[in-house]
Amino acid sequence: MSARRPAALLRDGVARLAGAGLPTPRADARLLLAHAARMDPSGLATTRELDEPVAARYERLLVRRAAGEPVQHLTGVAWFRTIRVLVGPGVFIPRPETETVVQFALRRLVALRPGTGPTPLVVDLCTGSGVIAAAIAEECPGEPRIHAVESSAEALVWARRNLEPRGVRVVHADMAEALHELDGRVDLVVANPPYLPAAAAGALPADVLDHDPPEALFSGEDGLDALRVLVGAAARLLRPGGWLVAEHDETQDGSAPRLLAGSGAFGTIEDHPDLTGRPRFVSAVRASGARRPEVEE
Ligand SMILES: C[S@@+](CC[C@H](N)C(=O)[O-])C[C@H]1O[C@@H](n2cnc3c(N)ncnc32)[C@H](O)[C@@H]1O
Repeated sequence: MSARRPAALLRDGVARLAGAGLPTPRADARLLLAHAARMDPSGLATTRELDEPVAARYERLLVRRAAGEPVQHLTGVAWFRTIRVLVGPGVFIPRPETETVVQFALRRLVALRPGTGPTPLVVDLCTGSGVIAAAIAEECPGEPRIHAVESSAEALVWARRNLEPRGVRVVHADMAEALHELDGRVDLVVANPPYLPAAAAGALPADVLDHDPPEALFSGEDGLDALRVLVGAAARLLRPGGWLVAEHDETQDGSAPRLLAGSGAFGTIEDHPDLTGRPRFVSAVRASGARRPEVEE
């Protein structure tokens, strides 16, 4: 096979992936071709021809993608806001809706510490690949001190790869018992916990069920088990006036804020949509002098 033009390879790939019923064939084909060519996707536009080994690598990637492997597992990276994180089997693939959660958290951090005060103290609970902590480390002015907590040993490997080079401390623990040394001192707790009801498994696409770890997806009968634990952990860690920002399922815009309110530990509880307008995360401020959280576990 001789050299091929990128546009022709992309056209073939898009047709193949669309034929396999994949929802984003154009974006996937572009990422896979760039990966096969060992270049940044933006480089494809200025490349005239790609040689035969590149076309062969691309072909193998297309076959695997058409069979349902996530594009992020094939390329080994996930793009999120302004950053790239390493991902693979055993860790949750970051989703674009979480970008809104980070946007809000960053705004809170800037508002918490205007000027030249001490650097903010941030905890990312349920860190998975570490994407939330990594984005905050890269984007927050003032070099926040960030701790990231993950209970799965498999996910922890990815968190360490993504976070330790960015200066984030990674802790292998259940969030219920993590970081007691920071109790009452943290400025912001942010989290994307597992939040799907167990019964949702039947409605999930096969590629999600096959490739995202179950402990990253499901959280008891109503999907709120992890949030119950998270609320208790955040109430313990946050200083009065500190912020909790937690992602939830689009059906939990009533139940998640109610859960926070019921704990008695938070005020200023608000729910927020993502960029598609779907309810996506709840924020709250740790109340001072609040009664100890009474969250069922
Ligand atoms: C939905 S994933 C989120 C990963 C990442 N923060 C993101 O937004 O892409 C949830 C993560 O929480 C972890 N997890 C679940 N229960 C936990 C707990 N009790 N303590 C710490 N981590 C937990 C799971 O292993 C999984 O990696």
